[in-house]
Amino acid sequence: MITTDTAYQKCINADCGAEFDCGQALFKCPECGDLLDIWYRWDNIAVPKTMSDFSKRWANRQNKLDFSGIWRFRELLNFCDDKYKVSIGEGQTILEQNCAVAEYLGMKPDCLFLQYEGLNPSGSFKDNGMSAAFSHATMVGAKSCACASTGNTSASMSLYAHSCGMKSTVFIGSGRIAFGKLSQAMDYGAQTIQIQGDFDDCMRQVQAVCSQLGLYLLNSLNPFRLEGQKTIMYRIIEGLNWQVPDWIIVPGGNLGNSSAFGKAFMELKQLGLIDKIPRMAIINATGANTLTELVNDKGLNWNNARVNQTIIDDYYADLTAQHFSPHTCASAIEISRPVNLKKCLRSIDICDGVVIAVTDEEICDAKAIIGKYGLACEPASAATVAGLKYLLADGIVARDERVACVLTGHPLKDPNVTVNYHKENQGAYSNPPVEVPNDLEEIIKLIK
Ligand code: F0G
Repeated sequence: MITTDTAYQKCINADCGAEFDCGQALFKCPECGDLLDIWYRWDNIAVPKTMSDFSKRWANRQNKLDFSGIWRFRELLNFCDDKYKVSIGEGQTILEQNCAVAEYLGMKPDCLFLQYEGLNPSGSFKDNGMSAAFSHATMVGAKSCACASTGNTSASMSLYAHSCGMKSTVFIGSGRIAFGKLSQAMDYGAQTIQIQGDFDDCMRQVQAVCSQLGLYLLNSLNPFRLEGQKTIMYRIIEGLNWQVPDWIIVPGGNLGNSSAFGKAFMELKQLGLIDKIPRMAIINATGANTLTELVNDKGLNWNNARVNQTIIDDYYADLTAQHFSPHTCASAIEISRPVNLKKCLRSIDICDGVVIAVTDEEICDAKAIIGKYGLACEPASAATVAGLKYLLADGIVARDERVACVLTGHPLKDPNVTVNYHKENQGAYSNPPVEVPNDLEEIIKLIK
C-alpha cells in the first residue's frame, strides 16, 4: 500500500469523518457512503509564502511539471510523488479582460474577465481534473477506467487514458451529447456505450459497473479530480497579477467546479496566501435547476457538514414520481441529481454564494455575445454571462466589482447549437449567412 505523509482522504460528513490514505481508489466513504475530500498535512509541505512565488516556475517551463497549469501549483495539491504526475500540457488558459462584453452587461468596462478553459488540450476545463486524477490512477496502478458523461468528461478522460496506456469506457445518454464531444471520445479510442437514458442514469450505471469490475472511476465523485480543478482559481488569481476578484461565476452541472473552487479559496485563506475570499455565483439552466430549487426554495444549506438529507431525498423522490428528465440546450449541464451537491453547499457557505437559473434563450444570446466580442464558448459556459446579467440587474453584483466568469468549454464542442441560433434567426444576435447568386455584381452589392 502507498501512503503519503502529505495528504489523506476524509469523509465530508461531520457525523462520520472517516479517514483513508491516498493509496486507495474509493470514490465514496466506505463507512457511510458520503463524499470524500482530500486533506493535507500542511506542516509537511513546503508551501510558498506568497502566491506570486509560483511565477518563478515559468522560467523553468522546459520541465513539464513547471509548464503544466496544474502542476506548477503542485504544493497546493500535494497528494502524490512527482514520478506519478501526469501532464499533457493542460492549463495554458487565458484570463481575458473583456470590455465589450462588460459594456453589453452595463458593467464598468475594466471589471469583467473571461477565463477560457476551452483552450485546454481536449477543449474543456475537465483536463485540469483529469491531470490530477490520472496521476492518482497511475499511483494506485489502475489499468482500466470509466466515466459517465454529458460529453466533456468522456473526451478528456479518453485522451488522458490513451496517453497513460489505460483502457477507457464512457457511458453517455442516447441523444444527450454534443457531436464535437462524441467525436473526441471515439477518436481517442474509448469504448463508447450509449445508454437509453439521461446523464443521471449513466452516472448510476457507471458506479455499479466500476465497483463490480474494479474500474477506476473518473467522474467528479473522484476527489482527486477536484484537486486539479482548484488550479483554475489559482490561474485566475495569477491573471489578475496575484489578486483575488470580487466574484467568480461558474455554470452548475454535476457541481464539481463549484465544489473545487470553494475548497481552493478555503485552503488559500487558511494558508494566508489570500486575504479575502471572493463571492461565488453558480448558474443553472432552468431545465436542470435542482441546485436552484433546493437552495432558494427548500432552504437547503451546508449546516456545518450536517446537510439535511431528508430535503434531498424528498426532492429526488418527487423527480422520480414525475418521471422527470432534465432538458436544456446546454447539454453539458443537463443534470438533475448532481453528485457533488453537498460539497457545493459547502462552497456556497465558504464563498457567501448565490444560485440562479437562466433560460436556454438567455444562454444562447449570451453565447452569441461572447462569440461576437470574445473567443467564444459552448452553451453551458455562456450561462455565466447570462446569469451575471440578472445579478447586476438585481444589484447583487455591483457594476464596479471585478468579476471572473469561468468559460468551461470550447465553442466547437457544440456547433449545432451555434449554427441553429444563427441560421434560424433564433435570437437577438443571430448572424445568418446571406444567400447570393454566383454573380460578382450581386456579391459586391451585398458587401458595400
Ligand atoms: N461546463 C461544461 C462545458 C461542462 O462540460 C460541464 C460538465 C459543466 C460546465 C458543469 O460542471 O459538473 O463541475 O458543475 N460536464 C460533465 C461532463 C458533467 O460529463 O462532461 P460541473
